[in-house]
Amino acid sequence: MTKADFDWPNLSFGYTKTDQNIRYVWRDGAWDRGTLTADETMPLHMAATCLHYGQECFEGLKAYETRKGDVVVFRIEENARRMIRSCRKILMEPPPEELFIEACYRVINANRKYVPPHGTGASLYVRPLTIGSGAQVGVKPAEEYTFLVFVTPVGPYFKTGFKPVSLIVEEKVDRTAPLGVGDVKVGGNYAASLRAGVAARQQGFADVVYLDAKEKKYIDESGPANFFAITADGQYVTPESDTILRSITNMSLVTLAEEMGLRPKRRPVEVSEIFDFVEAGCCGTAAVITPIGSITYRDRKVDYCPDGQAGKHCTELYERLTAIQTGDAPDPYGWVRIVPE
Ligand code: PLP
Ligand code: COI
Repeated sequence: MTKADFDWPNLSFGYTKTDQNIRYVWRDGAWDRGTLTADETMPLHMAATCLHYGQECFEGLKAYETRKGDVVVFRIEENARRMIRSCRKILMEPPPEELFIEACYRVINANRKYVPPHGTGASLYVRPLTIGSGAQVGVKPAEEYTFLVFVTPVGPYFKTGFKPVSLIVEEKVDRTAPLGVGDVKVGGNYAASLRAGVAARQQGFADVVYLDAKEKKYIDESGPANFFAITADGQYVTPESDTILRSITNMSLVTLAEEMGLRPKRRPVEVSEIFDFVEAGCCGTAAVITPIGSITYRDRKVDYCPDGQAGKHCTELYERLTAIQTGDAPDPYGWVRIVPE
């Protein structure tokens, strides 16, 4: 199979057209068999609940080509389960786990030539989404849902790649609320975060660090990724909070940190602790591990990478994680699945 002609090592994180996407519709109590299409647009009822009342959730996972030429995905079952949790939280019909996986595999297979070659640092980003496509005018759940999956080849989310980024602690904007929907991947959380993210970038920061909405005392997460830090006594700490997304990358790093002797700890992390950490990072499917170079909090700034280089723990976590994801290292935890052709 001939690969698409791209400058793979220099891809950014953005949309590039591929050949096909897939849509499944849930109507009268059942999902249909799914339709592959080249159409990048979709007809939608103007009263669809996704347009008015935010019935929408999405997922993000990546497919990689291994050295042997297989195409693999990372912990896809976890994405499937999280989409089920997201759907249930906003009363949408969830695509069952098997259907989610089948849909991703069908789309990846229809776009194999866009899976970046092994060793280029790029990957095929898989974006599943579920929307309320049925019409309602009253505020109530739709009676029809559409589950769609598209793929797009991507490079690093933060344009510097594996280079330290500068973040700022956000105190004026909350993206989620206690007892709200911050623990699931619904579009509204991202809409709520846009103004903070854009303002941060205008000031020269890569993104923000959100605090808990209630007390503004604890770190929640960054805009598109979870937060972790390494303490002086060798712990991997990451926030325990009901208002952040349970990152699959972070779950994996907790396991890898343990393996490295870093004593992982999920606990509330006070923002004042940033001045004591020796390293910090963001983690997520898109962000992978992005080392945090500095965090600005009010009139103070902490610099974790004065020489501009990622710290040794972030580097080792990154290397271990990406080696498993791309098939370069053994997969003792059973995280990787070969996409059947
Ligand atoms: N937090 C937020 C708000 C995200 O959008 C993401 C991305 O999916 C993550 C964390 C990281 O989650 P994961 O590692 O499962 O991609
Ligand atoms: C991901 O990491 O997959 C995300 O969804 C984060 C961002 C692009 C919204």
